[in-house]
Amino acid sequence: MSSHGAPVPMTAHPCGPLSGVAEVPGDKSISHRALILGALSVGETTVTGLLEGQDVLDTASAMRAFGADVERRGETWHIHGVGVGGFAEPETVIDCGNSGTGVRLIMGAMATSPITATFTGDASLNRRPMARVTDPLALFGARAVGRAGGRLPMTIVGAEDAVPVRYATPVPSAQVKSAVLLAGLNAPGQTVVIEREATRDHSERMLAGFGAEVSVEDDAEGRIITLTGQPDLRPQTIAVPRDPSSAAFPVCAALITEGSDVLVPNIGLNPTRAGLFTTLREMGADLVYENPREEGGEPVADLRARFSPDLRGIEVPPGRAASMIDEYPVLSAVAACAEGRTLMTGVRELRVKESDRIDAMARGLEACGVTVEEGEDWWAVTGRGAGSVAGGARVESRLDHRIAMSFLVLGFAARAAITVDDCGPIATSFPIFEPLMRTLGATLTTEAA
Ligand code: S3P
Repeated sequence: MSSHGAPVPMTAHPCGPLSGVAEVPGDKSISHRALILGALSVGETTVTGLLEGQDVLDTASAMRAFGADVERRGETWHIHGVGVGGFAEPETVIDCGNSGTGVRLIMGAMATSPITATFTGDASLNRRPMARVTDPLALFGARAVGRAGGRLPMTIVGAEDAVPVRYATPVPSAQVKSAVLLAGLNAPGQTVVIEREATRDHSERMLAGFGAEVSVEDDAEGRIITLTGQPDLRPQTIAVPRDPSSAAFPVCAALITEGSDVLVPNIGLNPTRAGLFTTLREMGADLVYENPREEGGEPVADLRARFSPDLRGIEVPPGRAASMIDEYPVLSAVAACAEGRTLMTGVRELRVKESDRIDAMARGLEACGVTVEEGEDWWAVTGRGAGSVAGGARVESRLDHRIAMSFLVLGFAARAAITVDDCGPIATSFPIFEPLMRTLGATLTTEAA
């Protein structure tokens, strides 16, 4: 994959209006889950709209290594699963590339089968904490041996006789929740996950869609998710909706680039994912939900974003963090073009993403002439209004696709071009970013490394 290869520098130049229709790829979270649950049901699951980004392709390869048949024919992916408890022991190391979601969900899915698997990733993934997943997997009876600090490469020895678990997640993480639920699939009885703050609920929805018994209750403790183990999962026909986290980039680019008017059709507005759009509207963005409708049980709309010259800084409520956790980098680019201070609190998790996203954005924004303050779990960006960002800097993407795309977006609206040292990682989640932004009228150039 490209983030293992030579760096791909790219420069975003100040440009005129962005306009047209931005058809963003399929949802990354849903794509991983469709492959994994397809592999855990018996029979053929078909998936259209799958994100064909490197992260998801790595999960597809992993599912093959565990014994499922995964094949793309035409526009459709076909998965012949092996059933709950049917995973084979992989013969080689599972390389999850850049993907925390991939590795954590797959660890969960195999941890309650009597097999052993070794996982690795790229330099970014091998720095990220895995104890948040291996701690609850140990309660099922699985064992993990990794590098110091619970880092990859890591071997998981699955439980011989898994027991069900009741687990309160100590961090707001859909990956942890999902790893526990996937492990619970092959444990007898009821596995319960309790989360204090609601995180994205695609696993719960898709497990129910595949025929598992899952209930969700809200009470004083938070959200309580109960899964009955050892179901026969029924294969499904899945149409993956487009990714709101990818939609964020053309939307934000349009809001800050003078004269722009961009339509981003068919975007899921599941409340556990849509926090950015609420925040942008509070900042005064001209962002309209056109043609709101329901598709596959999810609220969906076409997003229309127009240049918004009067954006103002706001305080983003910490309770909204989980619903926009991947969007803070691009929000900070918008905040740099707003008037006043945007304060983002309750965002400690940003420090353990593909990069330390607070540090990566703060250093790059400062290089572009923007004022940033930061603490361990908060940061603030103070902008001086539309057209005020100096730019003219070279910034680091740190093997992080969202950092790379956020600075390219800012480059369209800055006074001088912004160069990102390595845009290879964009292929993990949004492989068509560059041609799509060019179609809208953006000026992006690549330079020799
Ligand atoms: C994801 C959950 C989030 C998010 C990631 C995708 C998922 O991570 O940042 O991009 O698909 O479950 P955390 O669960 O660690 O917050």
